[in-house]
Amino acid sequence: MHQINTSTDSTKKPALRVERLGKTVPTADGPLAILQGIDFSIAAGESVAITGPSGSGKSTLLSMLAGLDTPSEGAVYLMQKNISALDEDGRAQLRGQYVGFVFQSFQLLPHLSALENVMLPLEIQGVDLKKAKLAASACLEQVGLAGRLKHFSKTLSGGEQQRVALARAFVGKPAILFADEPTGSLDEASGAKVIDLLFELNRANGSTLVLVTHDSALASRCGRQLVLHGGRLV
Ligand SMILES: Nc1ncnc2c1ncn2[C@@H]1O[C@H](COP(=O)(O)OP(=O)(O)OP(=O)(O)O)[C@@H](O)[C@H]1O
Ligand SMILES: [Mg+2]
Repeated sequence: MHQINTSTDSTKKPALRVERLGKTVPTADGPLAILQGIDFSIAAGESVAITGPSGSGKSTLLSMLAGLDTPSEGAVYLMQKNISALDEDGRAQLRGQYVGFVFQSFQLLPHLSALENVMLPLEIQGVDLKKAKLAASACLEQVGLAGRLKHFSKTLSGGEQQRVALARAFVGKPAILFADEPTGSLDEASGAKVIDLLFELNRANGSTLVLVTHDSALASRCGRQLVLHGGRLV
């Protein structure tokens, strides 16, 4: 079930295509347009940074790109499939097949250990328990957490939780890895290691990388930057 893009053909097709994307939400003061008229395409194997000020719509956009949220207007094509047209089950299936996601707020299960959190996506894919354990341990080692496998995630520091969230996102070798501020809670040295790891995955697995970041060092290492301002691309 692991999706790895290695063929030259697949690298020419867009991993993501966004058409006239908009998101409006109801608020106490009436409808609020968070995103408007967003159009772009990301080729398989590309690395792209989404930047922009706080509140400009970056997390909202990333959620829609990954099929975690649905647009009010327009469409998102993920691996050539219109994910916006699918129901929740269809989106979950497509996400399971292609997507790894690092949430800005990590979203780990607090009463599971670091290891169990990272094993979870593999278990959902039906990977044998022993193999899942080995793969999850290796990923946690890659993010510098070999000494924290059995800690409940709620007892880990913020930066450690962020690294567990990252390991959980890439353990299944997803075709597209989305990460919302993946270095936001890390010190310079751990952040640099995580950045190296992300680009190593991008190279070694041919995976597409879509990051939201305020970190200019991280943004400048991406092949391309998309800048949001007040819900529009500039
Ligand atoms: N469900 C919602 N209801 C009302 N307003 C919302 C909702 N979701 C997001 N917003 C508003 O939309 C704007 C964009 O939010 P978003 O989280 O995408 O920003 P962001 O660019 O990721 O910011 P940050 O850099 O602070 O994480 C914000 O002003 C936020 O308050
Ligand atoms: Mg955000």
